[in-house]
Amino acid sequence: MNAPAGGASRDRRAGREPGRSLRVAVLEGDGIGPEVTAQAVAVLEAVLGMAGAHVDFARAPVGGAALDLTGLPLPAETLDVCLSADAVLLGAVGGPRWEGLPPGRVPEAGLLGLRKAMGLYANVRPVTCYPAIAGSSPLRPERVSGADLVIFRELGGGLYYGLPRYTEDLPGGGERAVDTLVYTTDEIRRLARLAFETALRRRRQVVSVDKANVLDSSRLWRRTVRELASDYPGLTVEHAYVDSFAMALVSRPTRFDVIVTGNMFGDILSDLAACIAGSLGMLASASLGSAGGLYEPVHGSAPDIAGRDAANPLGAILSAAMMCDLSLELPKAAAAVRGAVGLALEAGYRTCDIASGAGGERVVGTRSMGQAVLRCLAEAWKCGPNSAKEAG
Ligand code: IPM
Ligand code: MG
Repeated sequence: MNAPAGGASRDRRAGREPGRSLRVAVLEGDGIGPEVTAQAVAVLEAVLGMAGAHVDFARAPVGGAALDLTGLPLPAETLDVCLSADAVLLGAVGGPRWEGLPPGRVPEAGLLGLRKAMGLYANVRPVTCYPAIAGSSPLRPERVSGADLVIFRELGGGLYYGLPRYTEDLPGGGERAVDTLVYTTDEIRRLARLAFETALRRRRQVVSVDKANVLDSSRLWRRTVRELASDYPGLTVEHAYVDSFAMALVSRPTRFDVIVTGNMFGDILSDLAACIAGSLGMLASASLGSAGGLYEPVHGSAPDIAGRDAANPLGAILSAAMMCDLSLELPKAAAAVRGAVGLALEAGYRTCDIASGAGGERVVGTRSMGQAVLRCLAEAWKCGPNSAKEAG
């Protein structure tokens, strides 16, 4: 995709001495996290080698894996590794083994804590339909063909972090649980600005998604986005309610370019948008803030298929491509990885989530899909950014 300008990572990169090794923190996490991350690291190592960049990988536990080792979902050492890295690659967190623990001790708290501690406020989720797998979408191929959009999900606020937040017993029996949906002008504006800047380098169409017919926080959201839009006369900025937008997203996905929305709506809409890409396993993401970047596939830990070599590693591999673009300043490497994914798909390689049953498909496991991408990398590198089929 045409990437955002790197947000925060930019400051850190500006201070990087030429020639020094890049430091990438690798947090495999839980479930299928280790399997998909291994493939992403292999592809990243290969492409950084082609780019002549030297990279040190620093592994650290997060989520349930960290809980098992240390009793905490985000140990201080893991946070230190992430804060001193140029970028963080994360697999997935969570699983049934850790369900029912106190709220601060669930694996997900590790990820939410990391996002907060790294100051990540923009979660960028590109959604494209690779032509070779348009037929794998649960939506009709003619609807998804050519779709190419990017969701900017606010990541540092909203319902995920709002206070007060508690569960209490009621005197007459039963309980009461409270979460708070809160946004400030500044939180909305900084995300919208990043989305607008990206839209200027794309098709210049933005849809801001809210629930301004009901929620005060959404009314502020809409007003703030509208005000900022007056600084961007070259953009078309529309506003949509999240319920009707959800339907429009899957019925006319090619209509959309840049979508900007809050934390909770973005979480839900991006999983829905996975239908456009064929599978949740295809989606990559970058989380950007005032320092550093965190890259992770959108899919979760998928405990039902963990350890079976059945997961789709392409979301993780495409997340590594986003890292090359946005944190490592290696756009050619990013394009080569995206191109190699396109070539592997064109050659018929499919993990089971994107297999349609059509002739010519080679249904493979996680490792073989990673190897197929690796084999295509040299060709994609030679093709360069313009001729390699780009997506994600
Ligand atoms: C995502 C995930 C996370 C979220 C979970 C694992 C905390 O669903 O990144 O979309 O809700 O943000
Ligand atoms: Mg989610």
